[in-house]
Amino acid sequence: MENTDPITIVIFGATGDLTERKLIPALYSSYCKGRLPAFNVVGFARRDWSHEYFRDHLEEGVKEFANDLFDASAWEVFKSRLWYFRGNLDNAVDYENLRAYLGKLEDGPTNRLYYMATSPNFFIPIVKNLGNAGMAREPEHCWRHVVIEKPFGHDLASAQELNDAVHGVFREHQVYRIDHYLGKETAQNILYFRFANTIFEPIWTRNYIDNVQITVAESVDVGHRAGYYDTAGVVRDMFQNHLMQLLALVAMEPPASFAADAVRNEKVKLLNSVRPIVLTDTVRAQYTGYREAEGVAEGSETATFAALKLYVDNWRWQGVPFYLRSGKALTRKNSEIVIQFKKPPHLMFEGLDDGDFTSNILSICIQPDEGIHLKFEAKVPDERITDSVDMEFHYQSSFKGNSLPDAYERLLLDAIRGDASLFTRSDGIEAAWQLVDPILVGWMKGDAPPIAEYAPGSRGPAAADELLARDGRVWRHGCESPV
Ligand code: BG6
Repeated sequence: MENTDPITIVIFGATGDLTERKLIPALYSSYCKGRLPAFNVVGFARRDWSHEYFRDHLEEGVKEFANDLFDASAWEVFKSRLWYFRGNLDNAVDYENLRAYLGKLEDGPTNRLYYMATSPNFFIPIVKNLGNAGMAREPEHCWRHVVIEKPFGHDLASAQELNDAVHGVFREHQVYRIDHYLGKETAQNILYFRFANTIFEPIWTRNYIDNVQITVAESVDVGHRAGYYDTAGVVRDMFQNHLMQLLALVAMEPPASFAADAVRNEKVKLLNSVRPIVLTDTVRAQYTGYREAEGVAEGSETATFAALKLYVDNWRWQGVPFYLRSGKALTRKNSEIVIQFKKPPHLMFEGLDDGDFTSNILSICIQPDEGIHLKFEAKVPDERITDSVDMEFHYQSSFKGNSLPDAYERLLLDAIRGDASLFTRSDGIEAAWQLVDPILVGWMKGDAPPIAEYAPGSRGPAAADELLARDGRVWRHGCESPV
């Protein structure tokens, strides 16, 4: 079947936040842009809701989270394709009933996308139940795809267990493991920036780059997700997925084509080239007041901030440190990748010495100041000194007519079209766990410096600055809302 053929999207865990805030607004936006084939959405969940109640609930979500798009007549049509199916995620009979229900709803051969928007402990039961009900098998000329939300496992062993369970039912080409950072336009642009231009790639090496810094800072605290967060912490919540994916995009070799496996082969190769991270090169911290949040265990040592240094053992990156940091309750939201170039080998200008000279900085601003900044030195008029000036690109001013779509919009469409290039493959997931697992184990055993504390609304713990200061470096920024 062509991907313009009808589709049913089944959302497991449809009464949760993700469906209301992200999935339905993203589908509705694609529908308004005429990008969806004929479709039905079936929400599967335990609560005793009617179709009408489900639709009204989602209407609120669309008004709140895709407000600029809301159009009463478009919504009327869209909502008539939303259905609610009451069922228990771990009850095999409910899947048999679901299959019969879908059979009646679908008008002939129909593609299906199963979306797991549930808590992770249901992933394996859902997969197995879909398998047992014969719902994973692809009938002739139709496809069955499954989208799995994060967190994908809790450590390497559980990720492998989940991969095994998934592969017991679905073939890898049917599986879409979502990392919403890969759906962000600015993250997608990293490969375009590097490989659709000729001027950056020749200097994208240890010969010109001094260090790379990746920051994903959030101003929000753990909020109502404290129960989940306390069992995860910042390394599982942000590093294993989002930061490792950004690292792979910025450091990987160019693939020969943009085909999903060509891109993913290079990403996995990169992650497998990262030298095991040394515990003394890690920093962990918790914001003051975290332990008082509802759902957090007494005396919890869960890190809400982490920073680390790593090296990539290959020809391109040998000896170049990569510094990564992420945390909650920081002064500002800011996701940014900074490439700091080396200093000129010889400074011939009078009055300039190593101490006051800033080397070139390229900042890839993921959010919220989406764009790219290049800082370079210019002579100050009528003086003999230089100052850093900025060459800037902002999405907002350069692409006026094109607003940045939400990451889920692109990812859902790709999962429907069968393009897995922005999704993580099983070996990529395991490679990332392989890197962060020893950190978590080391922290738990107390083999690392004790957990530090930082004030909410601050730049994070002093230890994160010391991590760089040890190497004679500081955290740099180029975007307009720096941490
Ligand atoms: C999610 C994490 O994956 O990413 C959250 O679970 C975090 O804790 C969120 O807040 C950040 O995403 P974004 O798109 O707001 O940077």
